[in-house]
Amino acid sequence: MKSILITGCSSGFGLETARYFLERDWKVIATMRTPREDVLPRSDRLRVLALDVTDPESIRRAVEAAGPIDVLVNNAGIGWLNALEGTSMDTARGIFETNTIGTMAMTQAVLPKFRQRKDGVVVNISSSVTLKPLTLLSVYTASKAAVNAFTESLALELQPFNVRVRLVLPGRAPETRFGENARSRMKSGFPEAYAGFAQSILAGWQTETSAVTRSLDVAEAVWRAANDPSCPVRIAAGADAEALAAAG
Ligand SMILES: NC(=O)c1ccc[n+]([C@@H]2O[C@H](COP(=O)([O-])OP(=O)(O)OC[C@H]3O[C@@H](n4cnc5c(N)ncnc54)[C@H](OP(=O)(O)O)[C@@H]3O)[C@@H](O)[C@H]2O)c1
Repeated sequence: MKSILITGCSSGFGLETARYFLERDWKVIATMRTPREDVLPRSDRLRVLALDVTDPESIRRAVEAAGPIDVLVNNAGIGWLNALEGTSMDTARGIFETNTIGTMAMTQAVLPKFRQRKDGVVVNISSSVTLKPLTLLSVYTASKAAVNAFTESLALELQPFNVRVRLVLPGRAPETRFGENARSRMKSGFPEAYAGFAQSILAGWQTETSAVTRSLDVAEAVWRAANDPSCPVRIAAGADAEALAAAG
């Protein structure tokens, strides 16, 4: 039986991906900052473990407790929407610490076993904002563009060891808790010089009726990355992300 460890399973893409793999008879190690068994169906193939990807000791404990795994999904991430001038460097560091360094640290923690076994897959969840830049997202986009560059270089480095590294690029997914979680960190608002401009951007996004990404699209893309050795390094997930990838 194959096993998968997923970060950030309390909601959104991570939760849906955990469900998707459980339904397909995988052993799932669903990790969360605050573990909750009740968000997933009961199963003897499910383990819920505590994991904060910004905490080296938490990473060490979770990877040790998980035991051997076949696939790691670096999904945990935080959003941020503001002008650069409205973003403190502490905030910028926090975003990179979770989205970028957290992904690197988790990957580094599982690699020795993958390399020795000459088998394993790492799937990193990035974002379609790296395909088409959007305003007020410079810091978040930079954190995910770094994940893209990291993943594509690492994929080459690990080829000789038969370890596959893949990128999933989801589009905008209003159904997850991403926006709500990001808003809870954005209490100080926009700098005055950007306020009017920012409000018109936000109003435009709220009335937008174009295609969006569902959590299921992301779970399916992770499934493909985990199971199809011939799939490309970059996999767009969701109708909007697929359209952007095709246009690029
Ligand atoms: N929704 C979108 O529009 C969208 C689009 C493209 C890409 N993405 C990316 O997709 C991924 C999943 O986002 P989502 O939409 O599913 O949002 P979500 O519902 O907010 O889920 C994010 C998950 O990450 C966890 N997390 C945050 N910081 C963490 C940390 N330090 N350690 C471990 N877990 C942590 C959260 O846990 P807590 O409950 O503990 O906060 C939550 O489980 C993220 O990497 C995000 O950047 C999202």
